[in-house]
Amino acid sequence: MILQLHSYWAYLTLALLIFALLNAVTGLIRNKDYKEKDLRISLFVLIFAHIQMLIGLAYYFTSPAYKHLKEIGMSAGMKDAHLRLLTIEHPIMMLLAILLITLGFSKQKKRETAKRKFKTIAIYYGVALVLILSRIPWDQWFD
Ligand code: HEM
Repeated sequence: MILQLHSYWAYLTLALLIFALLNAVTGLIRNKDYKEKDLRISLFVLIFAHIQMLIGLAYYFTSPAYKHLKEIGMSAGMKDAHLRLLTIEHPIMMLLAILLITLGFSKQKKRETAKRKFKTIAIYYGVALVLILSRIPWDQWFD
């Protein structure tokens, strides 16, 4: 149940993140004004990503992958690429990506020109997206 929530919510989080990134890149290229709606879009990504993180954290310690890791031990577990992805690489990379989203959002608020605001979002959210895409367990997402 909680895993399904984590899987469905990931669609929303990813779709919003991609949308916010495209919005920032378009704003930058077309020299647009930074409006209330642009702030809202980046805020929604922040909120959705934090909820995704909370669902992930809540699931983590009850997940079969974590239980299996505990049974076989860290050194044997780390030799199994899939188990390593689920229990270490995915959670750490996602936490890092969410940290970047949080930093990007707060830095963007302090920037003074529209161009710099769009640029900050484009960079921080862009790198976060790459990190997320690199460590999603694609082979089992709605397998
Ligand atoms: C932006 C953040 C995140 C995204 C987009 C994301 C996305 C996903 C996706 C798509 C899956 C595959 C689900 C499936 O099998 O259907 C997954 C699995 C998983 N996620 Fe996340 N996740 C995020 C953050 C986190 C965090 C912060 C944690 C824990 C600290 C976490 C823990 C897990 C675990 C343990 C699984 C493996 C589920 C299993 O046992 O099969 N995730 N995640």
